[in-house]
Amino acid sequence: MKLETSFEDDYRSALSEYAERSGEAGLGRAYELGRKAMTERKGLVEIVAIHHQALQRILREGRKEKRNGGLLRASADFLTESLSPYEMAHRGFQDAVKALRQFNEILEEEIKRIAYAVHDEAGQVLVAVHLALASLAAELPDKQQQIRELEGLLNKVEQQLRRYSHELRPTVLDDLGWIPAIRFLAESVSKRTHLLIQVKAAFAGRLPGAIETALYRIVQEALTNASKHAKATRVLIQVRREDGTLRCSIRDDGEGFDIRATHAEGKRRGLGLIGIQERLNAVGGTLSINSAPGRGTKLLIRIPLEDFNGDSSRSRR
Ligand SMILES: Nc1ncnc2c1ncn2[C@@H]1O[C@H](COP(=O)(O)OP(=O)(O)OP(=O)(O)O)[C@@H](O)[C@H]1O
Ligand SMILES: [Mg+2]
Repeated sequence: MKLETSFEDDYRSALSEYAERSGEAGLGRAYELGRKAMTERKGLVEIVAIHHQALQRILREGRKEKRNGGLLRASADFLTESLSPYEMAHRGFQDAVKALRQFNEILEEEIKRIAYAVHDEAGQVLVAVHLALASLAAELPDKQQQIRELEGLLNKVEQQLRRYSHELRPTVLDDLGWIPAIRFLAESVSKRTHLLIQVKAAFAGRLPGAIETALYRIVQEALTNASKHAKATRVLIQVRREDGTLRCSIRDDGEGFDIRATHAEGKRRGLGLIGIQERLNAVGGTLSINSAPGRGTKLLIRIPLEDFNGDSSRSRR
């Protein structure tokens, strides 16, 4: 019967063997150990500690004192090889983030196109309907009242379309930035849903376009969730910058939810929270959700801005 050995023991014996004989097979073993460590979710610091302990033990055993230089070189090669699966995974992650960023840019372009289509093209059609109604009114003097009512309804549709198109991609987002844009959004959602939404922002600078768009979309989804699921009456959005990190929280006083149950296997999953997470990945930010049934929901978004001083003169891309 084969006895189970620990990862640490396997690592030490493979390193010791490689130090004795070097060769491709030994490096292949290092690579396999790296992959195993990854599947066991060991962190880089842990691997380095395991390596360090293995090396110390081999040195203590003292058989290779005369060849310590060779041992150290072999040990460095072995460690590099065992970390290469992490390096590959990291590159894969960077590629995925890049693809995500491009995908978001395409999505934003598409949203812009739809917003303009709703605003301009639907607007044109409505103008034509207004004209048709006016000529109908001239031909049917006894139907003035009904025609005026129809015009009133048309005006309402027009106002709603304008509001939706501005909300889809508000021009203030590009012109004045994400804080005025979320104030506009909050006002719009308040009107539509009767949620009381307060925006408290202790941050006025502009951010790169990708971050501003991500923040706008995140707040938009959070407000949609608050009105769709939470049965909330109030939402508070707070923004501040602290120690080089932008912190934006969106808190509602609604029913809250069980985060684990929502993420459980086999549950139909919505795209909103995943989308928030992915948008944040693309700009190096993080999300934490604090919610429990009956206790409301708070989303906290953190985006590091260390290399960015938040003034409006910087590039918007
Ligand atoms: N503010 C909230 N209050 C209460 N429950 C929430 C809140 N936000 C999210 N949830 C719960 O988490 C689930 C997942 O939210 P998510 O936004 O990912 O998906 P969705 O809103 O159901 O669908 P989609 O966003 O794709 O339209 C929701 O179905 C809801 O049960
Ligand atoms: Mg949602």
